[in-house]
Amino acid sequence: MLVTQIDGLSYLKFDPSSKDQFTQISEIIAQHLLEPYSIYVYWYFLNKWPQYCFIVKDELVDQDKIIGVIISKCEPHNNVRIRGYIGMLVIDPTYRNRKIASNLVNLSIEKMIEYDNIDEIMLETEVINLGALKLYESLGFMRTKRLYRYYLNTHDAFRLILPILDKSGCRLAFLSPLSV
Ligand SMILES: CC(C)(COP(=O)(O)OP(=O)(O)OC[C@H]1O[C@@H](n2cnc3c(N)ncnc32)[C@H](O)[C@@H]1OP(=O)(O)O)[C@@H](O)C(=O)NCCC(=O)NCCS
Repeated sequence: MLVTQIDGLSYLKFDPSSKDQFTQISEIIAQHLLEPYSIYVYWYFLNKWPQYCFIVKDELVDQDKIIGVIISKCEPHNNVRIRGYIGMLVIDPTYRNRKIASNLVNLSIEKMIEYDNIDEIMLETEVINLGALKLYESLGFMRTKRLYRYYLNTHDAFRLILPILDKSGCRLAFLSPLSV
């Protein structure tokens, strides 16, 4: 289902009945994210929170091809906050630097507020993924923790949080955006 159109591209809700979309989503993610995810991880996110998976198509070029995807979820955290979590985000290399990822993150934030009245949104990204850090920090996410050897490739991660409600902004500390 079409959610919005921006710069001639279609932003759609994932269709849980579409085997083709499931396959394409798992393929584009496996191709461009370092961490290998099993099919069960995709099932977990896409079956439980289909409302938080959005895809992008350039329908003038190809009606079916997915050129960007974001997968997220929302859950209570320690019984005190409703926490949104961005699990996976990938844009086809030929479509990068056109704000597609920013649009997908903003769309997810908007829907998490609308459907679940979230307090905050969290994610992890590799310490060396400067593109992802730039993207998320330009949208207001802040570094809260460095997670040592978090990924299978042994790289560290930064945990980033975007506070939505005031109570989520009340923390002892955020890390400097210049931390490495
Ligand atoms: C990271 C990724 C999702 C960015 O997608 P995108 O659609 O090109 O991002 P946007 O066009 O919305 O860029 C948003 C901002 O981030 C910056 N940015 C994006 N990629 C960048 C890169 N590789 N290096 C430096 N800055 C980058 C943009 O310049 C832009 O900054 P601006 O607001 O100052 O202009 C995409 O490169 C990708 O799919 N990478 C592989 C998978 C990945 O790393 N996913 C994130 C894992 S958490």
